[in-house]
Amino acid sequence: MTVGIIGAGQLGRMMALAGYPLGLDFRFLDRSTDTPGGQVAPLLAGDFTDRRLLRRLARGASVVTFDWENVPVEPLRALADKVEFAPPLAALAAAQDRLSEKRLFERLGVPTNRFAPVEGERDLAGAFARIGPGVLKTRRLGYDGKGQFRVRSRADLAPALAALGGAPLLYEEFVPFDCEVSVIGARSTRGEIAVYPLNGNVHVDGILRLTRAPWGTPALARAAARHLARVLEHFRYTGVLTIEFFVRGGRLIANEMAPRVHNSGHWTIEGAETSQFENHLRAILGMPLGSTRPRGHAAMVNLIGELPARAAALGEPGLHWHDYGKSPRPGRKIGHCTLVEATAARRDRRVRALLPRLAPGVRVPFPRTG
Ligand SMILES: Nc1ncnc2c1ncn2[C@@H]1O[C@H](COP(=O)(O)OP(=O)(O)O)[C@@H](O)[C@H]1O
Ligand SMILES: [Mg+2]
Repeated sequence: MTVGIIGAGQLGRMMALAGYPLGLDFRFLDRSTDTPGGQVAPLLAGDFTDRRLLRRLARGASVVTFDWENVPVEPLRALADKVEFAPPLAALAAAQDRLSEKRLFERLGVPTNRFAPVEGERDLAGAFARIGPGVLKTRRLGYDGKGQFRVRSRADLAPALAALGGAPLLYEEFVPFDCEVSVIGARSTRGEIAVYPLNGNVHVDGILRLTRAPWGTPALARAAARHLARVLEHFRYTGVLTIEFFVRGGRLIANEMAPRVHNSGHWTIEGAETSQFENHLRAILGMPLGSTRPRGHAAMVNLIGELPARAAALGEPGLHWHDYGKSPRPGRKIGHCTLVEATAARRDRRVRALLPRLAPGVRVPFPRTG
């Protein structure tokens, strides 16, 4: 069975690596010829809107899936009678636009922060008057904190518009959160749902640095899983879906969702009985889902900008090294490391000691296990 993957970044690469033991084959489509995915499977290079290339990707594929959600949906709709897309294109479309995402959360009763669409100065002034301090974000194409401007006072309004103006925008309430979490789960073509334990995430300058899992109280994890299931059922979703939340005073506030495997789930490769990548493939191919049970207490640290010394890291017992095969560039995710320990206390002790080496020069906040 062949799986077509749109986007050949590290997520696609890890998906392929998880699929080979299942006997699957992969084919990527990406704009670039130099990609993490293209190093492990055949790559078609060209535009995501190129119908000829999309047809070649789909030819003979059991299903076409995504490692990146910001793909124009219309050219894909034109192919919908030729090949199955998973996740469904409606979910992809909703997740491409922060405004439709927030409206979806509201409609489904998933608590979220206050927000307003912004087209210009008047909208923004009105939104600030109603909502107070917040964040102005581009509705589309933001990632790793890009396309965002923090608004603390009225004086920030003009610079925020100047920085992001032109594109359709969303203004949302700033949440002084206690911590951030994400929930990852899969729904299969048979309607089976499997949800992973909650992830505790730490971002620095908008980029994920550290994930620890399992995180939070059982009640918090249950609430997050309930919200996730609501979105999964709404779309009759197939594949892995992620929702990111702020946590404040023990309550979940949905930030955004990703219709795909997620950076905060990389720990599942070594830290869970079935990885998010394998479960995504099982889900979209109609196989039974694998257990999401954790194998211990995991920590995942992103390697950003430059890779630290590999030999020293590999000398650390139990440290798993993932190099995405990307060239180093400031702010770029080029790999990650995972540690799995028998207790949360031991995991925290070890990862704290390792952080200065894995994220040199970056002060990574280390909230107490929530
Ligand atoms: N409204 C907000 N209140 C507080 N922090 C925020 C808010 N929006 C974004 N952030 C911070 O910026 C990070 C990245 O923002 P996010 O909306 O998740 O965009 P991205 O698509 O770049 O991940 C969040 O994980 C959080 O740390
Ligand atoms: Mg995010």
